[in-house]
Amino acid sequence: MTSRSDPLAYLAAELDALTAAGLRRTLRIVEGRQQAFATIDGQTVVNLSSNNYLGLTTHPRLIERALDAIREYGAGSGSVRTIAGTMSLHMELERRLAAFKGTEAAVVFQSGFTANAGTVQSILTKDDVVVSDELNHASIIDGCRLSRATIKVFPHKDVDAARRILEDLPSGQRTLVITDGVFSMDGDLGALPALAGLAEDHGAIMMVDDAHASGVFGRNGRGTVDHFGLHGRIDIQVGTLSKAIGALGGYVAGSHSLIEFLHHRARPFLFSTSHPPSVAATCIAALDVLEQEPEIIERLWANTKFFKAGLTSLGFNTGGSESPITPVIAGPGELAMRLSDRLFAEGVFAQGIAYPTVAKDRARVRTIVTATHTQDQLEFALDAFKKVGRKLGLI
Ligand SMILES: Cc1ncc(COP(=O)(O)O)c(C=O)c1O
Repeated sequence: MTSRSDPLAYLAAELDALTAAGLRRTLRIVEGRQQAFATIDGQTVVNLSSNNYLGLTTHPRLIERALDAIREYGAGSGSVRTIAGTMSLHMELERRLAAFKGTEAAVVFQSGFTANAGTVQSILTKDDVVVSDELNHASIIDGCRLSRATIKVFPHKDVDAARRILEDLPSGQRTLVITDGVFSMDGDLGALPALAGLAEDHGAIMMVDDAHASGVFGRNGRGTVDHFGLHGRIDIQVGTLSKAIGALGGYVAGSHSLIEFLHHRARPFLFSTSHPPSVAATCIAALDVLEQEPEIIERLWANTKFFKAGLTSLGFNTGGSESPITPVIAGPGELAMRLSDRLFAEGVFAQGIAYPTVAKDRARVRTIVTATHTQDQLEFALDAFKKVGRKLGLI
């Protein structure tokens, strides 16, 4: 046999380029539970990097319901939803989500990513147009690309630019206007009320990805549609079950016909196995907690205000965040990674985020406080930011 040169050798070269640029990362390993004070890579740290906004990953009610569901229904669902993988718990969760979001119906996907990508891809064709905020999540961008619709991107939250795009379209053009409810890297809110008005004026479909808003904004965490009082004016609401809800999955809430259409055409729904029953049970328990323990959301916001004010008064550039996601913008990618590494050495885990996730000159560490951080932990983290920020000349 002739020796064959490695056809994937170029990947190693790409990785070497990342090393040279100071951007090569190894995966950090969470040992034990995902929680506010966690053991990561063998070190106990204040964890400011999870999306576990309400601390529900370790809430006893969620854990008990998951265990009960495993005992009663088994470990897996065994099939895609459209064949034999729709269990009574999946249906119960969808009824609960529709009621939570105030819509006629809801459908659960394997993840928030597949909910966005599968929905956009299935409802649009190459003859349609998407009007999309430039900072929308990757899953929206991929859904747009898969749909083969024409993608028209407007600068972040620039409603006038979105209006000009819509005005230039031929009348009767089927169009989707789409925005994140909370932008995941900057923590600011999408221009929902203005975009919903534009969509109405132009007969466009309005869709919101509320991955980081569900469980955080609105009454009992109903999300940005509730926060802005836009019920009945947003055609498609996406949420995740993987962040504040503490488990795994995504969902779409909307009209009966939207949801039934997705049952027939959304490719992740059709071609990928449904959640184990324990995941559905965990999410139902989380919805119970949102209804019955709203003080957890109040604690999240108290912690958010305290920590944000601390970072700002230290003099960090925290952008325009309005949510528990607070970026600390360093600028160059290599500096953001150094900030993250030094914070970790001081006992604080705040992941560095660089291009292509954010613009090349806007690399940052992203912090997310949760309801379960204590005052002492947040003060400890602020002290570490102060020490490292000064050393690196950021403040
Ligand atoms: C804005 C936004 N939408 C969608 C997703 C995808 O959600 P999930 O992690 O449940 O796939 C994410 C999370 O990574 C996100 O930040």
